[in-house]
Amino acid sequence: LTLDFTKNGPAVSPKLYGLMTEEINHAYDGGLYAELIRNRIFKDNKTKPEGWSLVQQDTTTKASIKLIAADPDNIPFDERRHAINGALTTCLRLTVPKGGSKVGLANEGYWGIPVKPSTTYKASFYLKGTGSTPPRRFGPQGAAPAQTPAAPVIADNTAGPITVSIESNDGKTVYASGTIDLAKSTLWKKYELTLTTAADVKPTADARFVISTDRTGLYYFNLVSLFPPTYNNRPNGNRIDLTKMLIDMKPKFLRFPGGNYLEGPNFADAFPWKTTLGPIDNRPGHKGSWGYRPTDGMGLYEFLMWCEEIGAEPLLGVYAGYSLDGDHIDAGPLLKPYVDDALDEIEYVIGDVNTYWGAKRAADGHPAPFKLSYVEIGNEDWFDRSNSYDGRFKQFREAIEKKYPHLICVSTIADAQYPTQKVTGKSPAVLDEHYYRSSWDMWENAHQYDKYDRNGPKIFVGEWATREGAPTTNLNAALGDAAWMTGMERNSDLIIMSCYAPLFVNVNTATSTAPKAWQWDSDLIGYNALTAFGSPSYYVQKVFSENLGNKIIPMSAENIPTQLKPLSKRDSINKVKQISVPTIFYAATQDDKTGAVYLKVVNTLGKVQPVEINLKGIGKVSKNATLVVISGKKAEDTNTITDPVKIVPVTTKIKGIASVFKQKLAPYSVNVYQLQTG
Ligand code: AHR
Repeated sequence: LTLDFTKNGPAVSPKLYGLMTEEINHAYDGGLYAELIRNRIFKDNKTKPEGWSLVQQDTTTKASIKLIAADPDNIPFDERRHAINGALTTCLRLTVPKGGSKVGLANEGYWGIPVKPSTTYKASFYLKGTGSTPPRRFGPQGAAPAQTPAAPVIADNTAGPITVSIESNDGKTVYASGTIDLAKSTLWKKYELTLTTAADVKPTADARFVISTDRTGLYYFNLVSLFPPTYNNRPNGNRIDLTKMLIDMKPKFLRFPGGNYLEGPNFADAFPWKTTLGPIDNRPGHKGSWGYRPTDGMGLYEFLMWCEEIGAEPLLGVYAGYSLDGDHIDAGPLLKPYVDDALDEIEYVIGDVNTYWGAKRAADGHPAPFKLSYVEIGNEDWFDRSNSYDGRFKQFREAIEKKYPHLICVSTIADAQYPTQKVTGKSPAVLDEHYYRSSWDMWENAHQYDKYDRNGPKIFVGEWATREGAPTTNLNAALGDAAWMTGMERNSDLIIMSCYAPLFVNVNTATSTAPKAWQWDSDLIGYNALTAFGSPSYYVQKVFSENLGNKIIPMSAENIPTQLKPLSKRDSINKVKQISVPTIFYAATQDDKTGAVYLKVVNTLGKVQPVEINLKGIGKVSKNATLVVISGKKAEDTNTITDPVKIVPVTTKIKGIASVFKQKLAPYSVNVYQLQTG
């Protein structure tokens, strides 16, 4: 391998490595967003209130729970009066016909409630209590109500202490508990209290959240919430362990809110940023794109605060009038409301406090505008085979550039993916390309950008991953990723930004009461309610991002061993000629202020490979260097929730660095050499 210091390489993009995120695999609800109560406003119901169950010590009490106004579009007349506002329209009623023993509601959390020692949790909920009421005199439009069998009259004995606790699922161990006094009231009231665990509590997720009483009556609940400590103690904030893992990756930007999550299955399901603002009491949630209903606790403001907390610049995706079911709105007057909506959204992010949406942001807690350089128009619009993106992109770009000339609009259509679709006229400055591949395909294509036109648009690789291993990727995938990343890094004059996807996965499998937590295999960071771990791919991302200079060092290679890429079934039938792919991949950058050189070399074979490294024209180089290696015994080796650090970077000091030096690359290894020049 030759690093040619006699040539002046181009600058490395300052935003090369970032993050991509969306609500998939319970990335936010049951993931980064720290809320612990599943289905807190009772709108995520298939056949029953998801996540909720009845607790009764004495089954002869004949207590029950029932969703009231479960279908927000078809609320029976008699149930409308239970709505708190336009967002909190569904509530859960606990009926207690007989007092004297513990009766309550239990929430199972997102695959458990995490219990940790000396931890204070903030609980809150809306509650009102009544006795059972006689049938109303009039039904809708004054019609006489339908004759129903007389309901048993239940005495209103609801006023008094209500117990709130975090306890084991069998109810035998109480980890933290408190009481609130329910006023005698038929009107909704919000209650808040804190629950603190003891110092000697053993961490567990085998726990539930319970609100209970021992008195008769009808108890109505809405917006039941429980927060553990959050990163920076931000209210409505993020999980601490996951935030720290992201900070460790040193991301330069965060692409949000998707992905498919931006688009939604239909027009009405696109990310509804306006109803994600303000108190959570006003957030109805929405349908989402991945089979469960997001609470929108992770709203636009929270995305922006998340960026700030991890030191990343927002890269905002705006909905562009095309959804996953294939419906689109052609450019023209019907698209204008969507363009205006995007302009409002941008104003929320960067408008000053004198603008309408900038003032809203200030009221939400952040008077200073956020930094924003890139706005992505839609997501994967190459799937829109009607070719409407050309017009839609233009209409969005013209409006955005007119109001915000400094913003760069990213096109989601790139030649590399669907050459038949194009944005015509003024060429977009940046194209977003997505690649989900096998490790073989990554190795085959790791040099694809060496040949790209340097006079065309810049490239944002806005989603990519080597898809091997589930729910998180394995070492072989990490070797595919690392090879691919050397290609992006060598070409980081062209590849101005890149981000892996998906970022997060809740790794819980299905239980008797909750479905499997994830929808997409091959993810970067895995977790359950209690702990988190990085995949081998996560560590590749981390070491690549940590070890990056600001100048590309031109490199060349000789005698790189190759291996034959296996043919797919179809290729065998079609008698496609087998190709060879390299087994060593490389890239190098230099920090021209400190003189540090970062050389990355990937060995994809399961045996040691010797390399000779020639630092052509380097001048002075320190004999001692640091080597960071990610490797394993088997390509399928991986990290899991129970074995979280099997594959991690190992740092050693090495000697004998000279203008030409030899190294032995460990089997299945990603190697980062930190050399010092000058
Ligand atoms: O990352 C998962 C999905 O893959 C994204 O939502 C979508 O943009 C892509 O097709």
